[in-house]
Parts: sequence; structure tokens; C-alpha cells
Amino acid sequence: MKVTVNDVEVDLAPGTSAIDAVFAAGYDVPYFCSQEYMSPVGACRMCLAKVGAPRKDRDGNWILDDETGERTIFAFPALLATCTSALSEGMVIDTLSEEVKHAQNGMIEFTLINHPLDCPVCDKGGACELQDRSYEYGSGRSRFEFTKRHQEKHHPLSDLITLDRERCIHCKRCVRYFEEVPGDEVLDFIDRGGHTYIGTVEHGLPSNFTGNITDICPVGALLDATSRFRGRNWEYDHTASVSLDDASGSAVVVDARTGRIERIKAGLHPEVNKSWIDDGIRFGHEYTADPERITRPLLRKDGELVEVPWPEAAAFVAERLKEFSGKDVGVCIRADATLEEGVAALALAEHLGTGQVDHAPRYGPTVMPPAQATLQELAVSDAIFVVGDVSEEVPAVDLRIKDALRGVTPPPLLPHGVPIADLRLKERMPRKREILCVAAPYRVDLMRHAGTVARYDVGGEETLFRGLIAIAEGGSADERVLGMTLAAAKAFVDRLRAAKKAVIVTGGFVLSSQAAADAAERFARAVGARQLVLGPMANAYGLEAIGVLPSHARYDYASMVAGGAKALLISNLDPAADPAVAERLAESRLLVVHDMFMTATARLAHVVLPAKSGFEKDGTVVNLEGRFMPVRAAPVDAGEAVDVTGLVRELGLAFGVRIEGRSVRSARRSLRKTLGTDLEELTGLGAFVALPRRRVAVSVAARPGVRGRALRVPTMVRQEYLLRNPHLLATLGGPALRLHPDDARTRALSHDDEVTVRVDGVPRRLRVYVTDAMPSGVVSVPALPDAPAGPADVDLDGIVVERRRLEVA
Ligand code: SF4
Ligand code: FES
Repeated sequence: MKVTVNDVEVDLAPGTSAIDAVFAAGYDVPYFCSQEYMSPVGACRMCLAKVGAPRKDRDGNWILDDETGERTIFAFPALLATCTSALSEGMVIDTLSEEVKHAQNGMIEFTLINHPLDCPVCDKGGACELQDRSYEYGSGRSRFEFTKRHQEKHHPLSDLITLDRERCIHCKRCVRYFEEVPGDEVLDFIDRGGHTYIGTVEHGLPSNFTGNITDICPVGALLDATSRFRGRNWEYDHTASVSLDDASGSAVVVDARTGRIERIKAGLHPEVNKSWIDDGIRFGHEYTADPERITRPLLRKDGELVEVPWPEAAAFVAERLKEFSGKDVGVCIRADATLEEGVAALALAEHLGTGQVDHAPRYGPTVMPPAQATLQELAVSDAIFVVGDVSEEVPAVDLRIKDALRGVTPPPLLPHGVPIADLRLKERMPRKREILCVAAPYRVDLMRHAGTVARYDVGGEETLFRGLIAIAEGGSADERVLGMTLAAAKAFVDRLRAAKKAVIVTGGFVLSSQAAADAAERFARAVGARQLVLGPMANAYGLEAIGVLPSHARYDYASMVAGGAKALLISNLDPAADPAVAERLAESRLLVVHDMFMTATARLAHVVLPAKSGFEKDGTVVNLEGRFMPVRAAPVDAGEAVDVTGLVRELGLAFGVRIEGRSVRSARRSLRKTLGTDLEELTGLGAFVALPRRRVAVSVAARPGVRGRALRVPTMVRQEYLLRNPHLLATLGGPALRLHPDDARTRALSHDDEVTVRVDGVPRRLRVYVTDAMPSGVVSVPALPDAPAGPADVDLDGIVVERRRLEVA
């Protein structure tokens, strides 16, 4: 469809908005209320333009100008809001005339009537849409000689977000966002006219995705509490990278200033996270500036760990390693290490002559399903079956499922990028709940949006899938095993089978059992669905794909720490949190720990080497859909911390050899040979690269096969850093032991009591969280890198109350 914007003709698809035509033609028009991926509502009236269009007569012929013979353009009687106007053939849009400029000028003046203009002290200053638009389209003069409206300037919407009510221009982006994107209606306009303000019913914003409103607020009304008053926008270094918080590969922008991360904002990736991130990713960065961070190598001398230069620490390790034959040495890295770090770990293991190399956490089953779904496929799926708590495990997947429920396909990109006003999106759209079935052993948040829900027993994933396979094959199954009625199960299996783009999403609960994972794969085949498997960490997929795996099942991480390795090098893992393992590790002849903090394992080590956080390294990760994505280092002062490639470089220097993977470049040279792809050329959007699928071996020691009434559950917030993230800690109150009100009563526990309880033999300090989301008799504790999601053994009889909840009289 051809339209003309000022003097430029553009050809765009029918249904495109006029505002997008303006931008596609290379012109600009101011706007406040429109926002990518949200419904246009025409609230701010800022995007006004003069619009005209040709008309047809009754016979269906274009009305032509008598003199020129061209189609006559009939101007609309008033200026139109371009964000809510759809293009029509031959439309003519004028954004440059005096009439339009006058209107824009007037709207800016109206918008500023009650705005405090406190830009010099506003965190949004320098990155404020109102500031920019006032400069570009305003008159430059103020006629406000009266007292402006005064409202609350420091209203804590939650512990993470502060609202300045005076600055709000009532664009409604934040209110619409909650209803349209996560589907959590937790914010609304209160009062009328000039008194309107944004508010919640009660304190706090019960949603996993609250921080996105600080990105989309066009003014400084909604601010990230972790970065408030910490810097001006022009002082930040902005680094576009990928979050290593979970397996989604969500795009982020890391804003650092004077060597410290001040805030994380959502990056734009149209095929992964669009422009949204969860609160765990956004607010979970404060640990990187924790004063207890290890920034120099530590070597044990006379029983004490003392700071030494890198060459001394590396020389010590190299010298001591000579005492061991290769097979006695173990190397293990964490599953959020980059591919380049994986190459370095493999090369180090090869140099040492050991097959004891692994990444953890790692489940027995593969995270690479045979029929892999992508996040884009999930977003347009017509039948989705979820097993587990995806909203906590990989929250980006939760939002892509909600895209599918809206039933609007992702918009095609225009010359200027994502459409500013996608006219297919509406406020309060009906959701296609019937296409979603969610199954879990307890009530998970996504169930609110599902047409079918199933609550099966703890550890019942295998029997659930077996039951569903039986139904798919025309048989029947026990309703207790299914956790739903037989009729509901049959109806959903039929829906999956009839669907053209069915997707099955499974996470840690299924991965924690080989039999369950196999059954899930068989069921997917039976109904013709693709699979999305949520790996336990950011690069579980990539490390498995390049083979950071033991050469034999009895050489895996669990076996290494159980005594299989006499000398152990471990990166960012803390097996000694388990006292039984700590006892064994205390006997290790050589324990080298690469970490950011003095963990229980680091305290036992002979050498502790400072590690970089995920924000401080360059590299590549492969997300849960198999997409290779570039991780970029932000300019953060991490002392002498290195990633695993740096660690291998230092050890190589001490050995006097050049080990492959001694730098990111060297690791990429090696990966180019195995993958046939040059990762140096990877753009921010990433790319899919064909990968071999491996059968992963896992030892018996790694999976004790606990079956009981307790679960380690995935959490959006990284639990290992929670106590070092003060804002998230204030919001959550601490790692939670969740249990049903009846169980709390039986054990005389109250909400917010602090307790110590043994989880799989490991004492953990937790906060009691009483909720009827847990079935009676079932408790949950947060998963950790060394204790990933799955059935657990929680010793409730040995629970010790450390501190009772403070009762305010
Ligand atoms: S708080 Fe910000 S996003 Fe929300 S309505 Fe006000 S200006 Fe718009
Ligand atoms: S009316 Fe607000 S952007 Fe169009």
C-alpha cells in the first residue's frame, strides 16, 4: 500500500499505523503514549499530523481532480493521532506544516502544565522523552506563572521502584504494560483530571516483571530504586550484552559508571525477550559491587589464605599439580560459563590428561531436544503444554507464552525497527487460555492464565507423561497421576495432536529424572509437538553441545567432589556447603577454587582465584533454543578477577605451555574449527548453528533419587547472590521455605519466621512463607547451583526456629 509522508512515498503493508509510516519514511513525530509491543491508545495527542486520503465514488472509482486528473486528496477535518490511524491506499501525511507544528507546540505546553521541570535533579535527565520532545517541538518559553500541582515525590511503589507523582504525564504506558504484557493488573490510574495519579491497591507490585515500567516511562516518574540518584545518564557506559541469569539469553544493557554496575536495563531482541526482562535480571546485579568480593588471588600460607600476585598463585598450582597423575585431577566449571570458558576448561583437562571434566549444575538428561522449538515458535503456538514453574525458571518464556495467548503474531520489522504502534494490539484483549495447559506439583503463577491446569504429586513427572502417552495412544490413565480429570487430559491431548505448532515446555522437574525426560520426549513425538527444555543455567545448552562432559559417568562433578578427584579445580561452585562434602574436601590434597566470594568451599581451598561475574567477561552462550549469543564485558572494576580463559592463561604461563582457550580469541579459533562458524562475527541478535546432540552420562552418586514431599524449586532470583542484593532481599525477605497454612499450624510456624532446616543434609537458613499455593504436606525450598530444581529431602522434624516474626502490637 503506497502512502506519501511529506515528500516521500513509502510502500507498507495494510494495517500499518500512520505513525510507523512517518518513521518508515525517515521523518519524526513526537509521541509519549505509544510503546513498542503495546496497544496504541491515542492518549497523549502528541503524534498529531495532518492527514488526507483519496476517496472512491459510489461506483468504486477514485475521485479525480478535474484539472490534473490525479486522485483528489480529501483532508480529514481535524489533525489525527497518527498512532491510532491505519494507513489507507494513497494516504498523504503531513508532519511539517505550520498547522501541525502549532498543534505539537500546544500539546507540549499542555503536557508541561503540571510537570515540575526538576530535570537537574531527575535521574531521567539526559534520557527523558519529555525533555527531548520539549526541546525539539516545544516553544522554548514558559508561560506558567502560577503554582503547579504538588504531589508525592518519593512514593515507593515497591522496594524496587520509586514513583515521583509530580513528574507523571499520564501516558498510561505503565498501567497498560501490566495488563497487556505480563497480565498482572497491579497498577492503575486513581482519581480524575489533573488529580489523576498512578497507584496500587496495596504496597508492592506482585509481578515478576515490574522493572520494565522504569524503562518505558517517558519521564522520570518511575525509577529503578537500585540506581536512583547514583549517576547522570551521560556518565554511564552502556554495554549491550546478554543476561547470564537464566537460559533465555535475554538482551540487556549494562550501565556502568566509575567501574561499577549501576543498573541493568532491558535490551531489544525481537526474537527472544522483545524489550522485557524479569526483575531477577534487572535488579540482581548489586552483588558485583559487594565489598567482600575477592579481587586478588589468595594462597594458603601457614594455614591462612593471604593475597599473593597471580604468578605466585599460578606457579603454586602448577607445581602441586605435578604430584598427581592426570586421572586424579578434576576440573569443573559452572553451567553459566561461556563457550570460550568451556573450551579453556576442556583444553586444561586435556593438558592435565584427565577425563574428569564437567559443568554443573547438570542433569542427567540432555537439554537439547530432538525436535527443538524456538521462542518465536512458542509465541505463535496454538497448543502449549508446560510442566514446571516456567515463570520462575526462565521468566522470558512465560512472557512468550502470553504472546501466544494474545494470538497476535510478532510484528514484522519495519525500516525503523519494531513498529511503534501495532494496531492489532488492543487494551484488554481476550486471551486464548484454552491453548495452554500447565502442570506442576504446586500452584504456579502461570496457572492463572491457563485453560487447563494439573497438579500432580511431587516427583510424578514420569507417570504424568506416561499417562498422557497412554491417552495419546487411545488408552486411559489414572486421574491422580494426571493431576486433572481424564476428560480434561483427553481434551488437551487432542488439542496438542490437532495443533499445527504445538510446543511442550519442560524444566528442572522433568530434567531431574531420566525416565521423566525420556517420557516427555516420547509424548512430544506421539502428539507431534516440538520441545523447549529449560536448562538449569545460561549456557547449559552450549557446554553440553561442545562436550564439557566427563569421559565416563563415574567422572562427573558429583563423583569428583565425592572423592573421585584428589586434586580439584572448581569454578563458581560451592559443593562444601554440604557438610559431608566439606569433610571430604578438607582432606583434598589440592583444592583450587575460582570464585567471587569466600564460599564454604573457598574457605577450604589451598588457592582461591578471583572470578569475573557474568557482566565482566566477553564470550558466547547458547540459549535454550540453541541460539548462539554474544556476551560483552561492561567496564567494571573487578580487581584482578579473570574468567576461566584467564585462569587457563595464567596456569599455562606457569606450566610454560600455550594452552588452547587461553583467551577468548584463542578459544574462538578452536571453536571455528569444530563449529565451522566464526563467533567473532556474531551480531547482537545471535545466530543458530547446527550442533551435535549428545547422550549425556550421569553417575548414580549425582542423583540420589529422592522421592518425598519436598521440592527444590527454581526461582527467578539467583539465590546464591540474594543476600548480597539488598534491594531484592528487602523485597523477598530472604530465601523462602514455602508451606501450606495447615502445615505451618501443625509445626507452630508463622509467616516470616526465620528457621534453619536441613535440605538434603545441608543446613539452610530460610524464611517461612505460608501459602496455599503449596499442597498440604508439601514444602519447597529454593534451588541452588549445587542443588538444582527437583525432589528434595527436607528434614521438617529437625527444624529450628532462629527468630520469630516480629509482632507489632
Ligand atoms: S508513571 Fe510514567 S509511564 Fe506511568 S503514566 Fe506516568 S508518565 Fe506514563
Ligand atoms: S496519542 Fe500518544 S502517541 Fe499518539
